[in-house]
Amino acid sequence: MTPGEGECYVATFAGALVATIIFKSVEQTRGSLWLDRSDVASLGQFAVAPELRSKGLGARMMDLVESRGVEAGATELALDTAEPADHLVAWYRRREYRFIEYAQWKHTNYRSVIMSKAI
Ligand SMILES: CC(C)(COP(=O)(O)OP(=O)(O)OC[C@H]1O[C@@H](n2cnc3c(N)ncnc32)[C@H](O)[C@@H]1OP(=O)(O)O)[C@@H](O)C(=O)NCCC(=O)NCCS
Repeated sequence: MTPGEGECYVATFAGALVATIIFKSVEQTRGSLWLDRSDVASLGQFAVAPELRSKGLGARMMDLVESRGVEAGATELALDTAEPADHLVAWYRRREYRFIEYAQWKHTNYRSVIMSKAI
């Protein structure tokens, strides 16, 4: 990520970095019809260290960026994930993210799914 591309939040445990997530404001969210809308912010680079997964940390990181979206005045928070990653799409659906559109990014060799949640 280059400066100005977004806000990076991390979680640390026992001095080690164990989770990351990036919040992008509406101005920083670009790349498709949906992402170019003036009320759509987004998140990315989301991961939790394997040994700390399934303990609710991922949900807390998502809560954080959803709150940032509200604070920043966005009405939608978007994300993209790999279309074949059924478990992730299902996880985001459980958090009320809905399917918006497909995207084929230049830097990936698979199709991505753009999902979004009203915040
Ligand atoms: C996706 C990812 C960030 C989720 O992080 P996480 O910390 O495991 O997420 P949570 O713990 O909040 O939720 C995961 C599951 O644990 C369950 N869980 C939450 N708190 C729990 C607790 N205290 N005890 C037991 N289970 C719990 C949740 O219900 C959830 O189950 P579900 O998937 O059946 O809904 C993590 O799996 C990851 O880093 N994956 C690899 C990177 C990746 O794919 N990133 C997304 C790119 S788009």
